[in-house]
Amino acid sequence: MMRSTTVDTGLRSATPSSPVWDKGADGWNNHATLIRSWLHDVTAAMLDAAGVAPGSRVLDIAAGAGDQTLDVARRVGPQGYVLATDISARMLALAQENLRAAGLQHVDTRLADAQALGLAGSDFDAAVCRLGLMFCPDPLAALTGTRQALKPGGRLAAVVFSQPQHNPCLTLMMATALQHAGVPAKQPFEPGTLLSLGKPGLLAQLLDDAGFVGVDVQPVSAPFCVPSSQHYVDFVRASGSPVMAILASLPVQAQKDAWDEMVQRLNVFTTPAGWVGPNELLLCAAVAPAVGSV
Ligand SMILES: C[S@@+](CC[C@H](N)C(=O)[O-])C[C@H]1O[C@@H](n2cnc3c(N)ncnc32)[C@H](O)[C@@H]1O
Repeated sequence: MMRSTTVDTGLRSATPSSPVWDKGADGWNNHATLIRSWLHDVTAAMLDAAGVAPGSRVLDIAAGAGDQTLDVARRVGPQGYVLATDISARMLALAQENLRAAGLQHVDTRLADAQALGLAGSDFDAAVCRLGLMFCPDPLAALTGTRQALKPGGRLAAVVFSQPQHNPCLTLMMATALQHAGVPAKQPFEPGTLLSLGKPGLLAQLLDDAGFVGVDVQPVSAPFCVPSSQHYVDFVRASGSPVMAILASLPVQAQKDAWDEMVQRLNVFTTPAGWVGPNELLLCAAVAPAVGSV
């Protein structure tokens, strides 16, 4: 693959941008400082697990507004290369702005559905995906395409949400939104949803089925710390595309009622030191085997 110092706006891509994710893109980017501090440790662990090092060529899948892309690009340095992909053109436009502002030119962006990357044979040294894989209704297709984009011995590391009982804020918000929208509750591991890959054993099985070896999946605690439940709801209200999408068809006042109820119910996580929302993630790592061994 050619190394380029210009960004590919994705406009030539056959992938249509996702309106749902485009809608939450600015809100997600506006909360970058909060997200960075929430995911600081697990992001560093993800890059370590993927073996990202100076000079590496790295594929960043579902890169969003590029927060972890900045870390990858800094770590690989100007001798390395990063391709940041996402299904939202708006997210990628923001990623381009952020990368440009940081003076990082060894990164391209490409509009691409993670389930149809079309990058087989690209020989990437590493692939990372932070909080994106669980939104793929067909995660096996995403993982298989990722494995094919890696060189033999190349490493994947990804972060997803774990089980519902360890992510009570997410389950509470989704349940409240569904209730207000009059939509029946979904089963927690429904493919393509927030907690879809939290089902015990599922992620390891999918990595195995996708042809990876050396599969490792570890839980990581990542509490969300803000001054109050209102701050957390304001974050989700601006950027939490899955919850926003459930409420989108309701009248404005009905939406406000739903958000207000979430603030109240989330107060159970208020502590003397502020609001601390429990979150558990899964950090997975796996290796693309030598050609011919799959
Ligand atoms: C929660 S955000 C995470 C963004 C970024 N990785 C981060 O951690 O800041 C989820 C991202 O997944 C992207 N996404 C959702 N479904 C996708 C798909 N099928 N293919 C590629 N990206 C997808 C969204 O557009 C969004 O940018």
